[in-house]
Amino acid sequence: MKSMFWKNNTLNILDQVKLPHGVEYIQAKDVDTVAEAICCLSVRGAPAIGAAAAYGLVLGALSINTKDTNIFLKELKQIKDKLLSTRPTAVNLKWALERLMSIAKQNVNLQIDDIKEMLLDEANRIFNKDVEVNQKIGEYGCELVPDNVIILTHCNAGALATAGFGTALGVVRAAHYKNKKVHVYSCETRPLLQGARLTTWEMLEEGIPITLITDNMAGYLMVRKKVDLVIVGADRIALNGDVANKIGTYSLSVLAKEHKIPFYVAAPVSTIDFELESGEQIPIEERAKEEVTHIKGMSIAPEGIDVWNPAFDVTPATLVDAIITEQGIMRKPYKENFEKIK
Ligand code: MRU
Repeated sequence: MKSMFWKNNTLNILDQVKLPHGVEYIQAKDVDTVAEAICCLSVRGAPAIGAAAAYGLVLGALSINTKDTNIFLKELKQIKDKLLSTRPTAVNLKWALERLMSIAKQNVNLQIDDIKEMLLDEANRIFNKDVEVNQKIGEYGCELVPDNVIILTHCNAGALATAGFGTALGVVRAAHYKNKKVHVYSCETRPLLQGARLTTWEMLEEGIPITLITDNMAGYLMVRKKVDLVIVGADRIALNGDVANKIGTYSLSVLAKEHKIPFYVAAPVSTIDFELESGEQIPIEERAKEEVTHIKGMSIAPEGIDVWNPAFDVTPATLVDAIITEQGIMRKPYKENFEKIK
């Protein structure tokens, strides 16, 4: 099942809001539909957001009707800014959009139709390369996974969150393909339940044993079920190794430390923000209060209750035992090691 695919100038987006009970694709023919799909999490997960935004920019470019390159670039920049404002934390969004913008800027001497074609080629490259990158992450990560292992994960860092294979779940997949006996525990991941809805679905489709827990069961799970390792994905990693990921990740890292369980992050190099020194500078998205006060449209809290709803948290590098990338397994000192792979 692909998180998205491009066909006949349309981006087909698997609507993850409908999963696991419905498999439906949104047919995005314009940039606004893509922007809306990113905002409402129909497409989500840092690498998938990056790829969808790249295709969104292509759709925007196709709709620009001018022969003047300056006007084309000006309108393209406005479309880029619209896509960039959809979700602030996942750096892959900025990374992908900037890659396309620089292609457009470098080729201003070409015909606008040729530039549009080059933008589509680049979006395809970002999408296709992501699968390869995730397979490499899986290969490296597999070295950290013993046989007969219990792995705890959070949110969904799988094929659904990427162009395919996944990052944290890519490591799980790779171990499974190597015939290692793996049992996954998935935190449900309130408020939007990516763990309950998506990770469980993805692992069941793959035939990998999985057990669902609510987020507040993780500590007791570590005590009772002897969790061997925690693997999560990332939305943005600062130069010092601080990791922004789905809200609840930080709590898991603290619990892992207390229980002496290795805590690993699996992410592509494109998730490292080489411009940010530390996690304190990572912008953390805050979302609508209804995501906390309601489940599936049903109110679960007193009307008008005050709510805080950060979508991500930051796990300090001190609690991250290793960051698994397509270029190898990174360990402390992260800054020094990241500079080598920049
Ligand atoms: O809000 P989401 O569902 O986009 O959050 C996704 C995550 O936090 C993932 O763990 C992260 O993007 C890595 S996906 C390979």
